[in-house]
Amino acid sequence: TNTIIEPFRIRSVEAIRFTTMDERKELLAEAGYNPFLLKAKDVLIDLLTDSGTGAMSSGQWAGIISSDESYAGSSSFYRLENAVQEITAFKHVIPTHQGRAAENILFTTIAGKGDVVPSNTHFDTTRAHVEHSGAEARDLVIEEGKQPRNTHPFKGNMDLAKLEQTIEEVGTDRIPVIMITVTNNSGGGQPVSMENIRAVSEIAKKHDIPFFIDACRFAENAWFIKTREDGYEDKEPIEIAREMFSYADGCTMSAKKDGMSNIGGFLAMNSDELAEKCRNLEILTEGFPTYGGMAGYDMEAVAIGLFEALNEDYLRYRIRSIAYLGDKLSRAGVPIVKPTGGHAVYLDAKEILSHVPPLEYPAWSFNNALYRLGGVRGVEIGSVMFGKQPGGSEKPASMELVRLAFPRRVYTQSHVDYLAEVIINAYEQREQLGGYKIASGPDVLRHFSARMLPL
Ligand code: F0G
Repeated sequence: TNTIIEPFRIRSVEAIRFTTMDERKELLAEAGYNPFLLKAKDVLIDLLTDSGTGAMSSGQWAGIISSDESYAGSSSFYRLENAVQEITAFKHVIPTHQGRAAENILFTTIAGKGDVVPSNTHFDTTRAHVEHSGAEARDLVIEEGKQPRNTHPFKGNMDLAKLEQTIEEVGTDRIPVIMITVTNNSGGGQPVSMENIRAVSEIAKKHDIPFFIDACRFAENAWFIKTREDGYEDKEPIEIAREMFSYADGCTMSAKKDGMSNIGGFLAMNSDELAEKCRNLEILTEGFPTYGGMAGYDMEAVAIGLFEALNEDYLRYRIRSIAYLGDKLSRAGVPIVKPTGGHAVYLDAKEILSHVPPLEYPAWSFNNALYRLGGVRGVEIGSVMFGKQPGGSEKPASMELVRLAFPRRVYTQSHVDYLAEVIINAYEQREQLGGYKIASGPDVLRHFSARMLPL
């Protein structure tokens, strides 16, 4: 058969609440036209993020019941450490309560004023932590990665020539680490090829610069390598993941994504010296190094979840369900980032709302239309998220996207059919949609709390 079904059955359900369009108009206005400020109970299909929103398995719940809540030396920590080492082979595993805590520890420890941290594309929290340390976050994704309709199979790849140029220009002393984000969340959830990871690693080694992977969606990236890169079709996702990590000196991880858990993360690395510094900071900010901000039961859930994320039936279904929505939208003429990525469909709002200038935030506008019309919540990845410059000025982001990120193992195919209907409906009404302005909000990570006004 051709139908790829959900590779699980459901034995615990959670009701979702229907609202009317009039209610949603009012709720959106009360939330300052910022979907982050809506109450989740007022959202029908919540695609704000795939982070921490997934359904855990019966296996994970079983692990949770048998956790060890000891402060120091908990067995649950050792199970987590073993799981991470089995997949990454990194010597040191430093647990954190989520991904950004790992970023905070890493960048506070190694980066500072005058430094530059290159990446394919830094995620917003990564960028914020790099900048918080005083360093500059530089995005060096290949040009194809910025062209929504370009169907390059690995649009998350680092531009190697630009990386070499950056090293030349900045000097190795001022580059404390080279990062690569797999998959490239801010650039459409696009994968990075093994060839590119290997090449970045060689450049880093040649210049004696540490190379770290932002590994949030490592399993999804492994699946793309398996299905798109020559020589990997017969390899298991775990073998591919191991090879990816073998080229790096360490990683940051949010277990809220491919850790299949509602909370958790870690920082892992080979260097003894760096690990010691990081652990010292961890005690200050996260907790003792055998729990680091997680309960024992969280560590159990992550230890089990990391392997579930690498299951082939799961990955085939996961990536296919995203492509299924992408195909439906493409057939209806809705411009999306192609090919569809791992965890989300990204709508190209610059194209959909070509009459709304970037600094009137077209992606914000289209996302709000989806909520108004169908109770669907996505997230803007555009000039509200990335437009504010460290100096205070505004600059349009390279793309204006609405990201519809899928919680893992939560929604079924009929939810996706409904979604497609809502999006196509909004697309048909696009000419009536106008821009927004920011009424108030902070300078850093302003998208989380800004209050907006329709123009
Ligand atoms: N790196 C990437 C690539 C991410 O996507 C995220 C989180 C983080 C780091 C930070 O991890 O949330 O556990 O602190 N992304 C979520 C998202 C929030 O919606 O894409 P965290």
